[in-house]
Amino acid sequence: MSLTPLSDFVAKYAGAAPLRLHVPGHKGAVTLGPEALDITEIPGADVLYHAQGILAESQAIAAALFGAGQAVYSTEGSSLCIRAMGYLALQYARETGKRPRVLAGRNAHKSFLSAAALLDLEVDWLYGENLLSCAVTAEELAEALERNPAAAVYLTSPDYLGNQIDLRPLARVCHDRGALLLVDNAHGAYLRFLPENRHPLALGADLCCDSAHKTLPVLTGGAYLHLSPTLPEWLAAQAERAMAMFATTSPSYLILQSLDRANAYLSGDYPTRLAAFAAALDAAKGSLARAGFPLVGGEPMKLTLAPQNYGYTGEDLGALLAGQGIVCELADKEHLVMMFTPEVGPRGLERAVAALKAVPRREPVREPPPPLGRPEKVCSLREALLSPTQELPLEACLGRVLGQLAAACPPAVLPAVPGERLDRETLACFRYYGIETCHVIKENNVNL
Ligand SMILES: Cc1ncc(COP(=O)(O)O)c(C=O)c1O
Repeated sequence: MSLTPLSDFVAKYAGAAPLRLHVPGHKGAVTLGPEALDITEIPGADVLYHAQGILAESQAIAAALFGAGQAVYSTEGSSLCIRAMGYLALQYARETGKRPRVLAGRNAHKSFLSAAALLDLEVDWLYGENLLSCAVTAEELAEALERNPAAAVYLTSPDYLGNQIDLRPLARVCHDRGALLLVDNAHGAYLRFLPENRHPLALGADLCCDSAHKTLPVLTGGAYLHLSPTLPEWLAAQAERAMAMFATTSPSYLILQSLDRANAYLSGDYPTRLAAFAAALDAAKGSLARAGFPLVGGEPMKLTLAPQNYGYTGEDLGALLAGQGIVCELADKEHLVMMFTPEVGPRGLERAVAALKAVPRREPVREPPPPLGRPEKVCSLREALLSPTQELPLEACLGRVLGQLAAACPPAVLPAVPGERLDRETLACFRYYGIETCHVIKENNVNL
């Protein structure tokens, strides 16, 4: 049996050079590049969210590889899967007579906020002791669910910086109280293939999204919605519909083939190469720590530095590396995030480590961020995100209600989400992160 039924179909189709009287408009013109292999839902190529043929076959192979009850492909990243998870949580609430409420880690990605607005989900935030990772304890979660019974709990692990939450006890708390555990695993598709399986599904998540394109050799946009084998069948039966609610009707078959080929890649020697590279990166982290670099998070394929104590902002250090042709995932005032895969190889890793170690240590930079507050909630995400707004300079925003996401936020936690009143603390955070204006709800709107 082929591990790549979808790619086989398209290669054969392109090889036969048919007259393409169907979309896409480039008609497979080989002179331009990848167009020859770019088809869409033509006869024989299956239908993404009504999969019964080669796509169903390919997704079943992915599900088996990830230990999922079902894997549903996305060509629109985890962002699409997150909206679908929100829809499934809403269906779960309706069917079980629960309130359409989700308790969510405050470090949720912005696609969760738009999902909550579109679906009119009530969101209560979980902060945890460390505001950046939102690592709530089982006791805190149990208490929060006691106070605010919810249909689902939504957590992000790993986060952008590489912090991970111990999901297993939290899954138990959710299940004891009849709540679904939804996990944003956008950064952790590879966790399934480590010597110790640390994928959210193995730790008790009911649903999770994985951005295959972030950590596996998959084209940008390729992602999975994974369903636990223990998810109620009636809910699992709605997964494709949930994705179709928010997805394009013209999925990219280039991305789908990339996901299809990833199955063959993951079935090969990838776990062995991953384990070897994880060990090498772990050793590199140890040597950087000994050289004085403060490290953040424990995610095995990420190297995150908090270099202010070493004498640099993340931006300074990122610029120094960029000058040597080493381009990092993120550089802000506090952090420098580097994302690795086995494809980087030992030489790439050595190059990055040598470049860092060659940077002389300096007097610490003292530009810590202002503390994140807990701004007052004035209205729901839905009301805020659907309200007319006006853009004002920060100094005119005090006391106003945020109506849209602030443009350039730190990756982990938003100082305020739409619907919250902007206080002095929050505005100081925005200023620190270089945000100069905010979209606030117009004063004559909603009951503010
Ligand atoms: C934590 C987190 N969740 C979700 C997403 C969205 O993923 P995608 O870009 O695959 O839509 C991102 C993207 O950066 C992210 O960092």
